[in-house]
Amino acid sequence: MVPEEYRKSGRIAAKCLREVCRIVEPGKKILELCEFAEELIRKEGGLPAFPCNISVNEVAAHYSSPPGDESVIPDKGVVKVDLGVHVDGYITDTAFTVALDPKYEEMVQVAEEALEEGMVAIAPGVRLSEVGKVIERTIKRAGYKPIENLTGHLLSRYVLHAGKSVPNVGKAKEKGVVRAGEVYAIEPFITLPSAKGWVIEGGQAFIYRAIKPKTKEKKYKKLMEAIRKFKGLPFSGRWLVKPFGEDFVKSGLNALVKEGSLMAYPVLIEKSKKVVAQVEATIYVGENSNVILTPLLA
Ligand code: CO
Repeated sequence: MVPEEYRKSGRIAAKCLREVCRIVEPGKKILELCEFAEELIRKEGGLPAFPCNISVNEVAAHYSSPPGDESVIPDKGVVKVDLGVHVDGYITDTAFTVALDPKYEEMVQVAEEALEEGMVAIAPGVRLSEVGKVIERTIKRAGYKPIENLTGHLLSRYVLHAGKSVPNVGKAKEKGVVRAGEVYAIEPFITLPSAKGWVIEGGQAFIYRAIKPKTKEKKYKKLMEAIRKFKGLPFSGRWLVKPFGEDFVKSGLNALVKEGSLMAYPVLIEKSKKVVAQVEATIYVGENSNVILTPLLA
């Protein structure tokens, strides 16, 4: 049986993704989109499981507006909206790509097909590398290329990446086997055939996660206490600005990363600077059939 919290979490995630995608347009502030998504998640009775990611064009993942971000959606941008919801720690993770340039609509459709094939392939006893093979085949057959070093992932309570991964290529090293009752986020990332098909870390990071419960720095004790409320899930500096102020949050997060209490997730960019599309859903693997917790955009 699928826990009710998972169903609720998935319903909220699917609804919020739909609503955010609906308002993506050129000139719109990315900060506004991130905040809209996260506020809607809370209003619907969930909590963000990580900061809403809005990654444009060759930025494949992990762009979430920092406090005061002025950047806007460009004309003809390929805009990946990736959001996560949790209800009492039960996380669902879902993404869609809005192609403002019709040239890239087909690429988004292929990512959707790859996701669908992946969801059909995933079943108890199946090797995760097999799922990767199916995803890769679907993408290549359509003339595109999967991003080799980005994967889907097993979810568990309050853990976004719970060990096993769902590769987007067949040759991946993942040795895991799918078990009934597990919940996976499957997320094909695809790019143009001429691309490298590989992401590298950009210089900036706007998403953080606590890896230690406490800090030695007296000055940031209160800040660390506030961070503990995210229960080890990724968070945004934006979520701390109200009580602490923008400058204090900025210097505090930097200091806490340096000290090793936090880790930062750098923005991920396609190595050859080619456009990337992503579609993601969260699926419950049943003994006999799967349940899509975050049904795709209609
Ligand atoms: Co994910």
